[in-house]
Amino acid sequence: MNWDLEALKERLTGKLFGHNFYFYSEITSTNDKAFSLGIAGAPEGTAVIADSQSRGKGRFQRSWYSPPGVNIYTSVILRPEIESLKASQIPIMAGVAVALVLENICPGKIKLKWPNDVLLNEKKVCGILSQAKIIGKEIDFIVLGIGINVNIGYSQFSEGLRDSSSSLVMETGREISRQELIISIYENLEKWYKQLLRKGFGEIKQSWLELAPMIGQTVNIKFRDETIEGKAAGLAADGSLILFSKGNKEIKVSAGDATIMR
Ligand code: BTN
Repeated sequence: MNWDLEALKERLTGKLFGHNFYFYSEITSTNDKAFSLGIAGAPEGTAVIADSQSRGKGRFQRSWYSPPGVNIYTSVILRPEIESLKASQIPIMAGVAVALVLENICPGKIKLKWPNDVLLNEKKVCGILSQAKIIGKEIDFIVLGIGINVNIGYSQFSEGLRDSSSSLVMETGREISRQELIISIYENLEKWYKQLLRKGFGEIKQSWLELAPMIGQTVNIKFRDETIEGKAAGLAADGSLILFSKGNKEIKVSAGDATIMR
């Protein structure tokens, strides 16, 4: 199932995300391309889609495995008029929007892991990388990069990724149209983004909490050389994770990799 760019263009006309899209059969990273488009003044909603990436980027300078023909790699430009301190609400919102679309395909099996990994049966099916250009206290733009493992089979993952990654085809046994899926993702992203701008973070936070099994559990947060352990208690308004460490001290964690302690 390949991309039909004419049909895609037609379906995205009039939508916020993707009304203006750039498609590449191969690119280094859709985030890098979207970031340079953002600097050049591209309007909100501009999207970059690639069939493969030669240097797909993950959080913390990790790479994102991006082979051709099977997955979704896309980045969109947002220009929200919110304080820069609230920029991290955007990837949280995106995690909810993507998770709820994937939940329709794999009911009951989709969860969120702070800050915005989407898990399918406890394995990663989608990663989100947001990069912001901030000027003073204002957000100039945010690039929201979304990678979804769609039709990639188990054997196509490297050994290092097999235990921790999953894909929609691995779970459902049927190929999913990337084109239909990206349209649903853009539509749901538009819905939740508008909700964030109009009504604030409350409902998004609530939906995130409902999808996040780590709340109430003891978790480890690894960041650079440091590991913090505590009980995950909720999400703060800036998207950071609220933890109660030993001694019941409340800490807000704004970056790191979270693992539930069993
Ligand atoms: C992570 O979980 O570490 C984030 C992964 C984000 C991957 C996507 S794929 C599309 C976009 N382009 C990139 O280079 N990265 C993001």
